Amino acid sequence: MNPKTREKILIVGAGGFVGKVLTQSLVAEGQMPLLALRKKISDFPKLKKYHGDLEDPAFCNKILKNIETVFYLAAFKKNIRFHSEQPFETLAKNVKPFITFLEAAKKSKVKTIMYISSTNAEYALDPDSGIDGYVYGKFVNELIARAFVKETKIAIKILRSAAVYGPGDNFDPKTANFIPSMIRKVDETKGQLEVWGKGNRQLQFIYIHDLVKNIIAAKNSSDDFLTFGNPDIVSVNEVVDKIVKSIGKKLKISHDITKPDKSTKLSTFTNIVKPKTSIDQGLQETIDFYKNHHA
Ligand SMILES: NC(=O)c1ccc[n+]([C@@H]2O[C@H](COP(=O)([O-])OP(=O)(O)OC[C@H]3O[C@@H](n4cnc5c(N)ncnc54)[C@H](OP(=O)(O)O)[C@@H]3O)[C@@H](O)[C@H]2O)c1
Repeated sequence: MNPKTREKILIVGAGGFVGKVLTQSLVAEGQMPLLALRKKISDFPKLKKYHGDLEDPAFCNKILKNIETVFYLAAFKKNIRFHSEQPFETLAKNVKPFITFLEAAKKSKVKTIMYISSTNAEYALDPDSGIDGYVYGKFVNELIARAFVKETKIAIKILRSAAVYGPGDNFDPKTANFIPSMIRKVDETKGQLEVWGKGNRQLQFIYIHDLVKNIIAAKNSSDDFLTFGNPDIVSVNEVVDKIVKSIGKKLKISHDITKPDKSTKLSTFTNIVKPKTSIDQGLQETIDFYKNHHA
């Protein structure tokens, strides 16, 4: 791509699971995005990287210099237990960086910000869902984005995503999402595998590359609120069965019915690019990645 036609793109939270794949995809299109991250990574040696904390206004001013388009992917995520037991800390660590970043954006040349939210935001006002600082953080940041747009000439597109999975995912048992933590659990378990609840909870996911295609397509969409996910519905039990078969383990599955089967709000998706990766194919790719990098 001719450097003159390249967009001035910034990816915030570029060192995370989605950020790395988004960066790869934009580079494959000929873009040279600037990357803002906290931890040092060895990936993308040819791209300019800024390291710092988004709660630092000077850092936000620095990364926004001459930028027109932002993909804001930064989020503070641990696990549901932490989000529920320390909801204020979780909420603050999601909201403060976003506010600090937007304050800096006001003084910049930025035209569009893509804010990656979550279908989990739908639970924020549900009285049965309890207090979860991550869910609140996503919801509050959506409100902040809407308020910011009213007051400035900068557009913010809110892009809600279903649970994401795929190669490159986080398999740390302390912080991993359901699919990668179950892959690890199945791999490390001998004999009996315990599943919480009856396992009938219905779930929806999106494979990482299907999500990233939609995030990139959203840049040129006239919609400012989109929800991305694969509409296929799978139960907890189906996902567990598929993982056990794919890893090739003989395990006896038991259910701890003292643990509740949470209900899921199924989403209606407004994908721009139809997700093409089936759960079987996506799980296989994720398990292959796990075997090559973690097992
Ligand atoms: N993964 C999913 O299933 C899913 C589903 C729906 C929506 N989303 C949303 O999609 C986005 C990307 O998710 P992901 O899975 O890629 O998350 P991730 O791997 O946790 O990446 C988020 C990144 O944000 C960075 N970050 C957080 N607070 C920061 C701060 N104060 N200053 C600088 N950097 C900060 C983190 O840096 P450190 O590594 O240094 O902490 C991390 O690299 C997030 O907004 C998430 O909420 C994800």
